[in-house]
Amino acid sequence: MYVIAAVDEHWAIGRDGDQLCYIPADLKRFQALTSGHAVILGRKTLATFPGGRPLKNRRNLILSRDPSFAPEGAEVFRDLDSLRSAAPADAFVIGGGSVYRALLPFCDRAYLTKLARTWPADVFFPNLDADPAWRVAEESAPLEHQGLVFRYVTYERVSPCM
Ligand SMILES: NC(=O)c1ccc[n+]([C@@H]2O[C@H](COP(=O)([O-])OP(=O)(O)OC[C@H]3O[C@@H](n4cnc5c(N)ncnc54)[C@H](OP(=O)(O)O)[C@@H]3O)[C@@H](O)[C@H]2O)c1
Repeated sequence: MYVIAAVDEHWAIGRDGDQLCYIPADLKRFQALTSGHAVILGRKTLATFPGGRPLKNRRNLILSRDPSFAPEGAEVFRDLDSLRSAAPADAFVIGGGSVYRALLPFCDRAYLTKLARTWPADVFFPNLDADPAWRVAEESAPLEHQGLVFRYVTYERVSPCM
């Protein structure tokens, strides 16, 4: 499995149930990388999408313990084991914080957008720079959107994942 996320300098990813920022070029890259793949996400991240609707052109595998939660166009899983049995090997874990934490041990590549700024935040991604299981495989030149500098950094797992 792969993971994709946008993190600030302190590995923050969200606040008050929303993203820290929206960068059009990053959204396009997200679409290009994930289209045609299954995406795995938590119920709270689904709520941040327009209309709370699943993403088009992708299988949406959603984690929720709520037995009444059944969004149209998505497959809902009540626990990690049943989700992992259903998820193809090339699925992308797309958030949020609780799902990243739970599934990172099963991912072998991480497509991160590293934002050169800090925001007040309440949800974080694990710090891959502090984790010897991960190394930087590829890093883009700095890019900029309305004064916000960011880079695309791809991490690879050094040792085999679980
Ligand atoms: N920067 C980025 O790249 C990025 C990407 C995605 C999201 N985000 C941000 O991340 C934040 C949301 O993250 P979050 O951690 O609060 O929520 P989340 O991971 O999106 O969703 C949490 C919910 O998922 C369900 N869930 C999680 N683990 C489960 C498990 N093992 N079994 C069954 N259900 C499970 C539960 O749903 P129920 O409560 O229904 O049981 C839980 O409340 C938002 O601020 C969002 O904007 C940022």
